[in-house]
Amino acid sequence: MEIMTGGLNMSEISARLENVSFRYANGEDGALGSVTLEIAKGECVLLCGGSGCGKTTVTRLLNGLIPHYYEGELSGEVTVLGRKIKDTPIEDLAGHVGSVFQNPRSQFFCVDTTAEIAFGCENMGLEEKEILARLDRTVADMHLEKLMNRSIFGLSGGEKQKIACAGVSAMMPELIVLDEPTSNLDLDAIAELSEIIKSWKADGKTIVIAEHRLGWLKGLCDRVILMEKGSITRQFTGEEFFALDSSTLGGMGLRSIQGGSDYLSSPTGVTAIKPFAGKEVITLENFVPVTSLPNIS
Ligand SMILES: Nc1ncnc2c1ncn2[C@@H]1O[C@H](COP(=O)(O)OP(=O)(O)O)[C@@H](O)[C@H]1O
Ligand SMILES: [Mg+2]
Repeated sequence: MEIMTGGLNMSEISARLENVSFRYANGEDGALGSVTLEIAKGECVLLCGGSGCGKTTVTRLLNGLIPHYYEGELSGEVTVLGRKIKDTPIEDLAGHVGSVFQNPRSQFFCVDTTAEIAFGCENMGLEEKEILARLDRTVADMHLEKLMNRSIFGLSGGEKQKIACAGVSAMMPELIVLDEPTSNLDLDAIAELSEIIKSWKADGKTIVIAEHRLGWLKGLCDRVILMEKGSITRQFTGEEFFALDSSTLGGMGLRSIQGGSDYLSSPTGVTAIKPFAGKEVITLENFVPVTSLPNIS
């Protein structure tokens, strides 16, 4: 007998949250309240919503950081790749669920790039031959030759995030969660990250991205989930969502999808220039006005 839940066959489900509520041990209010969500295998899902609405908390439930690292009160059931997350030690999830964080530094264990890409595979207990084969394949697939055997400390934000993604790719997980992965990236690096996600999609990976920057995800996400105050309030297909106009998005507390504030807060950090005692303090050369930036999608 086939078990159907919410229209999805069980064998097609990658992750499932059923009536999940969570309060961090040191949190006064609950971070999530009764969230039910099913993510199909091969789906690329965007979690969006204002700061503090619970996006990161959902990613932590999917990669097991909750309840195995972050303590608190958890109720409901989280099942990831057929495993009940509460009963699965986090090391048993490594190799099945990969994570990319906002600040790549927070996920580095090594000081050089090659060792860092291999680290996750070593941790999974793979044989050296297999690790080297995966390393070679990842470096070739992601065109990382120039970044090999370099100190992590000398890399740009974009290069660090690429190495973090390469470490995840080498582990060949079925589900990949990314939490605000573009926070420290410039526009070129965002475009490269978008290519990496495209290739993961082509490999049939299930991908969940928590993001407040939306423009770069146009054409990548199959489904968009809007969260508010720890609950899912609306869901859209990718097509529906990326056709919304700025005022509708603004009404939902979201940034514009194209240009505008998305680019104004780019990591170059130049958002305003104040004259200082009549002297020229900052000179912008070859400055591209925000309105004419390309729409990277
Ligand atoms: N480590 C933590 N300890 C205590 N409270 C937390 C922690 N992380 C997040 N929270 C709280 O949980 C709620 C949801 O946060 P989060 O999932 O980080 O939202 P988002 O990623 O959408 O900004 C917020 O009220 C936040 O303050
Ligand atoms: Mg967050």
